[in-house]
Order: sequence, then C-alpha cells, then structure tokens
Amino acid sequence: MAFADGTADFRSDTVTRPTEAMRKAMADAIVGDDVYGEDPTVNLLEEESAAVVGTEAAVFVPSGTMGNQLAIWGHTIPGSEVVCVETAHVRNHERAAAAAIAGVQFRGVESPDGSITPDQVKDTAAPEHHHPRPSLLAWENTHNTSGGTVTPLDVMVETSDAARAIGLRIHLDGARLFNAVAATGITADRWADPVDTVQFCFSKGLGAPVGSILCGPADFIDEARYRRKMLGGGMRQVGVIASAARIALAERDRLTEDHENARRLADGLADRYPGSVDPAAVQTNMVIADCSPIPGGVAAAIDALAAAGVVAAEFPVGHIRFVTHRDVDAADVERVLAGLPRP
Ligand SMILES: Cc1ncc(COP(=O)(O)O)c(C=O)c1O
Repeated sequence: MAFADGTADFRSDTVTRPTEAMRKAMADAIVGDDVYGEDPTVNLLEEESAAVVGTEAAVFVPSGTMGNQLAIWGHTIPGSEVVCVETAHVRNHERAAAAAIAGVQFRGVESPDGSITPDQVKDTAAPEHHHPRPSLLAWENTHNTSGGTVTPLDVMVETSDAARAIGLRIHLDGARLFNAVAATGITADRWADPVDTVQFCFSKGLGAPVGSILCGPADFIDEARYRRKMLGGGMRQVGVIASAARIALAERDRLTEDHENARRLADGLADRYPGSVDPAAVQTNMVIADCSPIPGGVAAAIDALAAAGVVAAEFPVGHIRFVTHRDVDAADVERVLAGLPRP
C-alpha cells in the first residue's frame, strides 16, 4: 500500500509513516516525565523490549545511532579499537561519533556479508607494540550494506566466544534484528545471547515513526541512561512516541510480508534482467539490483520508476537498493517491474 499521495518509496524501511492504530495510540498515550522515570508508557516499552531480547533492562533512545554510540561509549576505553566489518553502520554512517564521544577507532575487517570469523577477531589483538588494543566486537545483523544478509547464529556464537577469550565486550547493532528473526525463526533472545548489549530500531521495518532501544545488563543500562542525558537524550513526555513503538514491537511478525515482497521483486528482476540480482543473496527485505542489464542503466531506471510513481535511489554506484517495508506491497512490486525499461 503506497503513501496517500500514491507514491511507493523503496529507498529505505525508514520511510514508513505511522499507521492509524499508532496515531490513535499516540493521541491517547498516558505520559509522565521520563527523565524522572515516570512515563508509564516508556517504562512498559522498556520492560517489553528487555523481555523480548532476554536482557535485564533496556533504555529507550531517539535513534539507532544513539543506542549504538551509548553502547560503544560504555563498553570501551579511549584509545582502543572496535572490531567490526569494514562496511558497518557504526563505522561508516554515524558521523565518526565513536571517535568524538568514546575516543575509539575502528578495525574494519573484510567481509562480503557481515559475518566475521574467529581468526579475524584474534588477528586484531596483534601482540606488537604499535597496535592499539581491541576492546569491543560490534556485530550488525541483519547487515545493511550487503543487502540485509543474516549472519548465521552459529557464526555469531563461535566468533563471539573467540572475542570474549581475548577480553572483548560484544555489542549487536540489531537495527533490523527482527528481520533476522523473521528470516530464520530463531527468536530474538537467542540472537542476543552471545552479546552483552543489543540495540534495535522501532523506526525501520517495524514501522514506528521514531525510536530505538538499547538492551543489556541492569548496571550497564543504568549507566547508559545517565550518559543518554549527557547527550541530550532525556526526552520528557516521550510516551507519545513510545506508544507507537509498542505497537511496532507487538506487530513484529508482519516482517515476513516484507521478505515475501523482496523475494517477489528479486525473482522478477532476475527473470527479466539476467545477472541483475542474485536471488540467493536476498534473505530479508532488501534487493540490490545491478542496473547494467537494464537499458539505459541506473539513471534511466530511476527516471522510469519516478514516472511510474516509484521512488528509488542509487546504492551502491550502478545499482539500486530496493527496500521493502510496511508502506509498499505486492502491487507496488508489480509497479516497479512494470515501470522499468524493457530489454
Ligand atoms: C544497520 C543500522 N544501524 C544503525 C542505524 C541508525 O539508525 P538511526 O537512523 O535511527 O540513527 C541504521 C539506520 O539506517 C542502520 O541501517
């Protein structure tokens, strides 16, 4: 179902607009001052989120970036390194916040799909005297840049064990954790089990307008709450948005629809433009299409889609990344296929 103006926006799952139920919940939300810990709706959301991922506590934050940065800041010491894949959001897309706030740098390891091997982690702790010491392993699951791929749980467990053995803490950027849950049937608490903290977003495929949450041990979350205030993240009567996030969390099973639509789109593109998409690489709600088999390439594809009322963007160069979400449906997938230039 496209937006009210008829456009279907495939650029990201961040573009969703609140549902009628969310708007009503926001209007009716029971609120208090969350800086005093007195917003009942936020307190419920934090309890429900911690229960879903099986941690002691959780703290509501305005964005995934703030959740990740509070985790990095809390887990590391200045001058140390965070180990992650070289394409990780925390490394490339958070405005160097970890350098500015926590005083750390990243050790990006090569990975086509977000997975990291035990040896890659062990290699970061080189015992020579020029090398900074690693302090944190940061996962991203599902992995955004490679097209929503899932790092298998056994890989996370094995590599996290290796990281712990050399003294690292472990954080999961689970902005799209529930896409991994929907794709595998493995529950969120099992994904969170190998890590110390997990951040997930209500404002991606789950469809809430705003908000993310950082979950972990009670003492870590207490400290994160203190630091959230330092960053200006004390949000007062924020039950107004937590109410929409509660609905998003309760309706998380709907992500399978997004995965079906991504599959439909991947199959349609692969059939029409052989070589444009590897359907096996499409595991969740993203399809990265190489536009070279499309007549006119990426620019012509984006123009033709715009004429059909479809918003799409180039990512990476020469490709379009289509992201499915709550506000696009199977008819919009057909619109993409019908709108693209014919071979
Ligand atoms: C993998 C990943 N982590 C973190 C974030 C940051 O979330 P936010 O935009 O809410 O700061 C994003 C946003 O797209 C993301 O894709």
